[in-house]
Amino acid sequence: MSLMAALCVNMVTVNMLLSVFFLSGVSAQCGSITPAALFITAPKEMEALSGSCLLIPCNFRAKDGTQFDSSREIYGVWIKNDPRFSNKDNVIFNSSQSVNSYKMQMTGNLREQNCTTLFSDLDKSKTKKYFFRIESEHFRATAFDDPLQITVRDSPWSPRINISGEAKEKKSVTISCSAFTSCPHSPPQLTWNLQQNCHSQIEENTDGTFTSKIQQSITLSDSHDGFNISCSATYPVDEGKPGKTKETQQTLSVTYAPKETSASISPSGLVSAGSWVNLTCSSRANPPISSFSWFLKTKDGSMKVAEGQFYTVNMTNMTESYYCEATNILGHNRSSWIHLKNEAASDQDAATNQRRTQKKQTMSTQWLKFKHHEPQGEK
Ligand SMILES: *[C@@H]1O[C@H](CO)[C@@H](O)[C@H](O)[C@H]1NC(C)=O
Ligand SMILES: *[C@@H]1O[C@H](CO)[C@@H](O)[C@H](O)[C@H]1NC(C)=O
Ligand SMILES: *[C@@H]1O[C@H](CO)[C@@H](O)[C@H](O)[C@H]1NC(C)=O
Ligand SMILES: *[C@@H]1O[C@H](CO)[C@@H](O)[C@H](O)[C@H]1NC(C)=O
Ligand SMILES: *[C@@H]1O[C@H](CO)[C@@H](O)[C@H](O)[C@H]1NC(C)=O
Ligand SMILES: *[C@@H]1O[C@H](CO)[C@@H](O)[C@H](O)[C@H]1NC(C)=O
Ligand SMILES: *[C@@H]1O[C@H](CO)[C@@H](O)[C@H](O)[C@H]1NC(C)=O
Ligand SMILES: *[C@@H]1O[C@H](CO)[C@@H](O)[C@H](O)[C@H]1NC(C)=O
Repeated sequence: MSLMAALCVNMVTVNMLLSVFFLSGVSAQCGSITPAALFITAPKEMEALSGSCLLIPCNFRAKDGTQFDSSREIYGVWIKNDPRFSNKDNVIFNSSQSVNSYKMQMTGNLREQNCTTLFSDLDKSKTKKYFFRIESEHFRATAFDDPLQITVRDSPWSPRINISGEAKEKKSVTISCSAFTSCPHSPPQLTWNLQQNCHSQIEENTDGTFTSKIQQSITLSDSHDGFNISCSATYPVDEGKPGKTKETQQTLSVTYAPKETSASISPSGLVSAGSWVNLTCSSRANPPISSFSWFLKTKDGSMKVAEGQFYTVNMTNMTESYYCEATNILGHNRSSWIHLKNEAASDQDAATNQRRTQKKQTMSTQWLKFKHHEPQGEK
């Protein structure tokens, strides 16, 4: 028996080689194997979810161009494991309804050479190779060169988040979340933390499989930077059981020109005139700030005096006003003016204020003061 099996395998190999030279007259002695006379167009490998269904997109054609006449009966057969179905148990489906041990249904029209099959109620034991066969009055053949490997998994597929277009402030992008849909008859439900009432669409892929998708267009601003988009796909499984869910997260990175630029002074308390004062510029941007510049107010307008986030000034003059500017590749943004005054200036102020309000009389004489003002427009 095992010798026969070995012989059979050899014969198949020989047949396949011979068929290249059109010497297909040699017929195999074992099972029903002859050089492939039937071919199917279907994915070579498919994944399915246990408890769910799988739609197998399938078309077939006969080698000799046999047309399948609509007046004759034609049966589609699925065989598991081995195309030589000498073991009758390997025939798991016959569209004649004579066999349906695995829950299958031929949804394609065989007369149109469409062998699309709906495979229901899958479980992991159905992870196997499957072969398609056609049986009609004048034509019987198995597509043994086109096995279909089905892998049944317990955990669902992770949905994918896709952001199309450049994620930059003021630009509009389309964000989508899509999930592999093994069975369009029982598609996953998609939910995310963007617009809630998005209607999910089912799209057909080029290989005949399907994808469920939700999408939304957003005009971006800096406030979207760092937002975590999270999307989950829930696949319905056998009735009465909760669906199987998988979630995906993606952080949205939005590029933007510098924002909220401000300049601060240290120390901020009382400082003797003539001492060092540190100025610090801060801002936020994506990509990060590439340079900071300091501008001093002069009677001829503002003048750039330094580069760098920190700037140290020896407070000698009566008053000085500065602003800083932060720059990245997308643009720049400036702080409001900051005004430094030494003690002489503050004495003048104190004198002025004294006339205005009694409270200000208690002011110290040795101090340095800063105020924030809006930019004056010159630059
Ligand atoms: C499929 O069913 C038809 C009709 O009952 C039958 O003639 C044929 O032999 C069956 N084929 C297989 C492989 O079981
Ligand atoms: C095959 O049949 C299926 C199910 O009826 C159908 O959705 C599909 O469009 C058909 N394919 C072709 C190529 O006609
Ligand atoms: C994201 O969507 C765009 C536009 O629809 C498409 O060109 C791109 O290939 C997609 N990227 C991924 C990773 O799916
Ligand atoms: C986004 O998710 C990442 C990783 O999941 C986490 O480290 C980060 O803190 C989250 N950010 C926000 C704004 O929730
Ligand atoms: C600087 O950014 C703020 C937002 O933080 C914006 O309101 C302001 O107009 C910008 N100023 C300049 C000069 O670009
Ligand atoms: C600030 O400048 C003045 C005048 O040039 C100088 O006398 C003083 O020592 C400087 N202060 C410090 C802390 O270096
Ligand atoms: C200013 O910064 C320098 C160096 O960063 C530091 O040594 C100094 O103590 C600072 N001075 C003040 C007044 O904060
Ligand atoms: C501060 O005083 C020095 C020396 O008198 C002068 O050169 C400089 O322009 C003054 N700065 C300002 C902002 O007035």
